[in-house]
Amino acid sequence: MSVNKYKVAVVGGAGHIGLPLSCFISSYGNDVLIIDTDTEKLNKLSNNVLPFKEDGLKEYLKIANKNNIKFSETIDEINNYELIIITLGTSSSKDDLNKFETLMNQVLENVSKNSKIILRSTITNETIDTTLDNKYFKEKNIKLAYCPERIAEGNSLKELKELPQIIGTQDGIEDKYFSSFFRSLDIKTLTTDFKNAVFLKLFTNSYRYSQFTLINEFFNIAEKNQLDFQEIIDLAKLDYPRLDNMPSKGFVGGPCLIKDTETFRIEFSEDSQFLNSLIKINSTFMTNILNKCNEIFVDKKLIQLGLTFKPNSDDLRDSISLELYFNLKKMGFDIYPVDENVFQESVEFELYDFEDVSKLTNNVLISTFHDSFVNLDLSGKRVVKVGNK
Ligand SMILES: NC(=O)c1ccc[n+]([C@@H]2O[C@H](COP(=O)([O-])OP(=O)(O)OC[C@H]3O[C@@H](n4cnc5c(N)ncnc54)[C@H](O)[C@@H]3O)[C@@H](O)[C@H]2O)c1
Repeated sequence: MSVNKYKVAVVGGAGHIGLPLSCFISSYGNDVLIIDTDTEKLNKLSNNVLPFKEDGLKEYLKIANKNNIKFSETIDEINNYELIIITLGTSSSKDDLNKFETLMNQVLENVSKNSKIILRSTITNETIDTTLDNKYFKEKNIKLAYCPERIAEGNSLKELKELPQIIGTQDGIEDKYFSSFFRSLDIKTLTTDFKNAVFLKLFTNSYRYSQFTLINEFFNIAEKNQLDFQEIIDLAKLDYPRLDNMPSKGFVGGPCLIKDTETFRIEFSEDSQFLNSLIKINSTFMTNILNKCNEIFVDKKLIQLGLTFKPNSDDLRDSISLELYFNLKKMGFDIYPVDENVFQESVEFELYDFEDVSKLTNNVLISTFHDSFVNLDLSGKRVVKVGNK
């Protein structure tokens, strides 16, 4: 194990982004403090219990605890740390923006002179400007970088090692301190200015949201014309490599894509007809799935497989499969939801095992296709699939 090199405090460090990052930094022998207001999560972490699913993180957490990673609920401890990384949840809502600003104020009030701050949360230009204008920022000679997180949840530890780190600085010129920090973690760095980094991060997720929405729009059009989209896609893709990278139709939810697209629209092009149409297209997609359920299922009882926002995840944040559950409930469906990734206490309704309910109905709706569903025996069932898998 290498000697301690950096003293790093990660604010919001028990979250989906903060935790893998904190453990990863700790695995390089650095002195890491996780600051988070969620006491329950901190207790779990100090006992090597993960608060959410993330590939490979359990091992990293164990190593971090062996390396004496520290946990705290209070911000004032950051004054012992030279580098502060902010990984709080963000969005374009006024409430979230105010919370972030309040937290930044606390951070700047408590950091010691000549500290360095990395904004890792997805933020806007306004947040950067407000930080730069903060009186403590100037008084204490703080250095700031915007280093957006670009990993996909579930793959963070793999992608932390593989993806280059965008470093936004005020003048767009490489800053030795920040570059050296990431390079010490064997991460390649790319420097640009704050404005480009903000655009880059929000545009990337808006682009991905657009790609997924585009295929849903073609499904909507096929439905309008009473055509079997799945049959068409299967034929179109067969031995036709130009469509290899085409995404599957399906729900586009989760904690990033919708929110970041909305922030991108508000930040850069509020009246963009294209961006404004995306939510409408996905809402029509939902209507088409609801219509399919009415059409295919002979009665109003069904088993719903998968509730999380994407396969093999336990994250229900902004999950459209969960939204579908509630929409079907409103339409009078009696639902047996099945999702072994979701803890019973995370939802207000009862979860079931597939085997226990399989005989109660032949109607099966696959809304989020976890790998574990591949081996289920669905013979004799009427199946509605939201995605292509
Ligand atoms: N989840 C993703 O896949 C992903 C990917 C890339 C970027 N991002 C961005 O990363 C940021 C963090 O997202 P996340 O998914 O990790 O959110 P999260 O909600 O999982 O984590 C945020 C953490 O901050 C803590 N917190 C809240 N208020 C606090 C306070 N005042 N002081 C200290 N801690 C506080 C919460 O308890 C929570 O543990 C967001 O800006 C998000 O857009 C997320």
